[in-house]
Amino acid sequence: MGEVWTHPRHILSSSQFERPWLEYVFKLTNEIRKYNRTKEGLLYLAALLPHRRIMLYFTQPSTRTFLSFHSACQILGAKVSEVRDASVSSEKKGESIEDSLRTFSSYVDLIIMRSPVAGLCDRIAAMLDQTPRSIPIINAGSGPDEHPTQALLDLYTLSRSFLEQGGIDDKHICFVGDLKRGRTVRSLALMLTQFQRIKMTFVSPERFAISGDLRAKMMACPNVEIYETCELKDILPHADAIYMTRLQDEYDVGEESKAVDYSKYSLKYRDLSCLQQDCVILHPMPRRDELDPAIDFDPRARYWRQERNGMWIRVALLTILLGVDHHILMPEL
Ligand code: CP
Repeated sequence: MGEVWTHPRHILSSSQFERPWLEYVFKLTNEIRKYNRTKEGLLYLAALLPHRRIMLYFTQPSTRTFLSFHSACQILGAKVSEVRDASVSSEKKGESIEDSLRTFSSYVDLIIMRSPVAGLCDRIAAMLDQTPRSIPIINAGSGPDEHPTQALLDLYTLSRSFLEQGGIDDKHICFVGDLKRGRTVRSLALMLTQFQRIKMTFVSPERFAISGDLRAKMMACPNVEIYETCELKDILPHADAIYMTRLQDEYDVGEESKAVDYSKYSLKYRDLSCLQQDCVILHPMPRRDELDPAIDFDPRARYWRQERNGMWIRVALLTILLGVDHHILMPEL
């Protein structure tokens, strides 16, 4: 590619990555998908990491992130162990999270973490970096803070969707819903700042508008224009992509979600007539009522593809962090 860049040691935040590295990951993912077409290709992938052990430490509910990472490990032949409930580990006996994670690092070669605690992955990665068993950490969702691997798969889905329209540069991406506590929005918005002449419109109830620090970061980017509104219908005809999100009421401290009319932030089948012919509809899922299932069969709905793309992006990330990505791009090695 010509540019000088190095692979990250950990995947912790969307802010870590610059465009050449993102493009490398997308190219790698496209190559990996070619191996999926034949039995020989799949056996080749499964022979890349049978000597490696990967831990899934998920102490917050998850369906697709957990299962897509689990499947990614299986595709590469890696062995998987998991904790999905800290109450059945020695944390229940008062062990600190740091001691728990350091213990896991004694047994495995990489830890994938989902936690309700913002910044926990960064803390654990920094702690392990000072030990003789400094293994890679992947942030698979950290409270309302970040979800960088989701942002990678979202961006990959956008880049494939806009292939015939010159890619992601110059596009208008519209984020809808609970944007204050939606970590996928935060991570994707940060990653989009790597592209040129990007417009982002954030549509939310006033109470759940993007946080001040994200707004400040966006406004500091000369290549990004941002708009904020409470009115979804006005923006629909102007969006190249619409990123729907659900109400994140698991983070309520009182009854704040009940005070909001979230039906104004939903996309119905009848709204499709207002959208551009090639508008891309995404949702990180799970969904509730904000995204009408009747939309699922419209060609602009890309959220099921988005989920599957997640598995392939995560295969690519594991090959990078465990040092076998060159076997994909240069299989003769
Ligand atoms: N998008 C996402 O993180 O989904 P899960 O919570 O099901 O993993």
